[in-house]
Amino acid sequence: MKRVMLLVLSCLWIESLLTVVRGEDPYLYFTWNVTYGTISPLGIPQQGIFINGQFPGPNINSTSNNNLVINVFNNLDEPFLFTWNGIQHRKNSWQDGVAGTNCPIPPGTNFTYRIQVKDQIGSYFYYPSTAMHRAAGGFGGLRVNSRLLIPVPYPDPEDEYTVLIGDWYTKSHTILRKLLDSGRSLGRPEGVLINGKTAKGDGKDEPLFTMKPAKTYKYRICNVGLKNSLNYRIQGHSMKLVEMEGSHVVQNMYDSLDVHVGECFSVLVTADKEPKDYYMVASTRFTKTVLIGKGIIRYTNGKGPASPDIPPAPVGWAWSLNQFHTFRWNLTASAARPNPQGSYKYGQINITRTIKLVNSVSKSNGKLRYALNGVSHVDPETPLKLAEYFGISDKVFKYDTIPDNPSPNIGNAVTVQPNVLNITHRNFIEIIFENPEKTIQSYHLDGYSFFVLGIEPGTWTPEKRKSYNLLDAVSRHTVHVFPKCWAAIMLTFDNAGMWNLRSDIAESRYLGQQLYISVLSPEHSLRDEYNMPDSNLLCGLVKNLPKPAPYS
Ligand SMILES: *[C@@H]1O[C@H](CO)[C@@H](O)[C@H](O)[C@H]1NC(C)=O
Ligand SMILES: *[C@@H]1O[C@H](CO)[C@@H](O)[C@H](O)[C@H]1NC(C)=O
Ligand SMILES: *[C@@H]1O[C@H](CO)[C@@H](O)[C@H](O)[C@H]1NC(C)=O
Ligand SMILES: *[C@@H]1O[C@H](CO)[C@@H](O)[C@H](O)[C@H]1NC(C)=O
Ligand SMILES: *[C@@H]1O[C@H](CO)[C@@H](O)[C@H](O)[C@H]1NC(C)=O
Ligand SMILES: *[C@@H]1O[C@H](CO)[C@@H](O)[C@H](O)[C@H]1NC(C)=O
Repeated sequence: MKRVMLLVLSCLWIESLLTVVRGEDPYLYFTWNVTYGTISPLGIPQQGIFINGQFPGPNINSTSNNNLVINVFNNLDEPFLFTWNGIQHRKNSWQDGVAGTNCPIPPGTNFTYRIQVKDQIGSYFYYPSTAMHRAAGGFGGLRVNSRLLIPVPYPDPEDEYTVLIGDWYTKSHTILRKLLDSGRSLGRPEGVLINGKTAKGDGKDEPLFTMKPAKTYKYRICNVGLKNSLNYRIQGHSMKLVEMEGSHVVQNMYDSLDVHVGECFSVLVTADKEPKDYYMVASTRFTKTVLIGKGIIRYTNGKGPASPDIPPAPVGWAWSLNQFHTFRWNLTASAARPNPQGSYKYGQINITRTIKLVNSVSKSNGKLRYALNGVSHVDPETPLKLAEYFGISDKVFKYDTIPDNPSPNIGNAVTVQPNVLNITHRNFIEIIFENPEKTIQSYHLDGYSFFVLGIEPGTWTPEKRKSYNLLDAVSRHTVHVFPKCWAAIMLTFDNAGMWNLRSDIAESRYLGQQLYISVLSPEHSLRDEYNMPDSNLLCGLVKNLPKPAPYS
């Protein structure tokens, strides 16, 4: 009896200790000054967006559960928002920084994001989410390290490097935006950058990174570009893939990796080759003209320049699809919490709803529009989340205007309006992305990670579920869909909020290929969702409305 009592007591004690520890999750403070400046990454001066004078912006180095307090001063002449790609903002879509959740920060003012990187590890990035600002910069890396207590399935690397690769236009973001606003396409980019530059190969390039001989380094690679899939490789070195968008994966070796827009990978590279310089290369995939971005890695004991022979990129779609099939979750590795990743058996949960999303491109009044199931999204002036919270959603948008199972010719007509799905809290949902177009798609969902069950050629039918990976699919936040292919994902919608599901192809997204998913806490409970922060900006129809009663 006494022993049982003691056991209960000690459990309670451990519980309260854990609560205290949780209450003390460290805070990291940042003050960011967002300004214009001149950059010439491709030799032509153009307007760039700086953060504290840096292009790309500073890297955020955080650890699971840290609280990030980022005070952003908008010194541009346009409203501005940052979004945090892949950060889940548990119960807190107030911090997501997209047009459907937040009023933009007016020029000449500041706004503070309060973000907890709760129960996450991995390589992420942030970027400006509106007005094509991303085409001018304002992006940077965001790391979430494992807490010391939690085993990581590989030895500590000597150092870690962030590698932001992306296609690049020499036109300013205002010109690109005007093209889209007038119903035209962005056209082709002019180059590819690695961390905001590309090596000229004239012998004067400064190295991006250095490696000590025989040591192993972690490279965190994200495609922050606007449209092109990129193949990433390092001369003479193979890469061991260890993490993908927050999940530890089965550690295969790769000579090169296809990184589609919005995706992130972490790889280990050992400096075990002849000591000299080597190029890292990012080159466009699936394009007639191949654009190449280069950066130099230098051995600290290096003698001599990098060889001008760039390793060739793979050719065609099939290679990329085959590579996707090699990506597997490591079921026995710990995640952000000290339990194996695979303990959540997603393959055994019954699906409550299947939503098929078919993308299309068409002209509406002679202007280019991109759509999902026939609806091309526009952002109303009043953010959707605020309209919902203040109880005036009926004045701003309608829920569930698109069918879950569109007819095959859905692409013929297009309606331009806000596109908002109503998904029941905690439902387990299957989403199929079907891409009938000739170009690749890349979709990102805010607030969640999801299991990518399969990507296959053709159109989807329920029969295709037989080919799903129901055992060790990688849990991630972005999925690409090859031309004339489908992709299937599954997830539990257990994070209340208003969440953006978007094409990461900038032009498609800007012209409507995105939607929002409203997940409401049925009891309006603080257990499920935080109240709107007092400091939240208000705009549009809610600007002068009294604040609703807080959740309790
Ligand atoms: C931001 O940078 C601009 C331009 O350099 C400068 O004028 C301004 O004072 C800075 N603001 C803050 C808050 O540091
Ligand atoms: C990032 O944070 C980790 C954990 O606090 C620390 O060990 C590491 O040195 C930091 N890295 C950089 C580049 O600041
Ligand atoms: C603006 O910055 C000041 C500090 O310079 C801070 O006290 C204030 O809270 C910030 N305002 C917002 C809305 O974040
Ligand atoms: C998966 O993680 C475990 C636990 O850290 C590790 O021992 C194992 O080598 C990893 N497996 C693969 C295939 O990467
Ligand atoms: C899933 O559905 C099957 C068939 O309808 C049913 O037998 C099973 O009990 C359900 N499983 C759960 C976990 O609800
Ligand atoms: C959203 O879905 C829930 C659950 O199916 C339903 O109760 C609610 O009425 C729906 N809300 C709207 C606005 O359609």
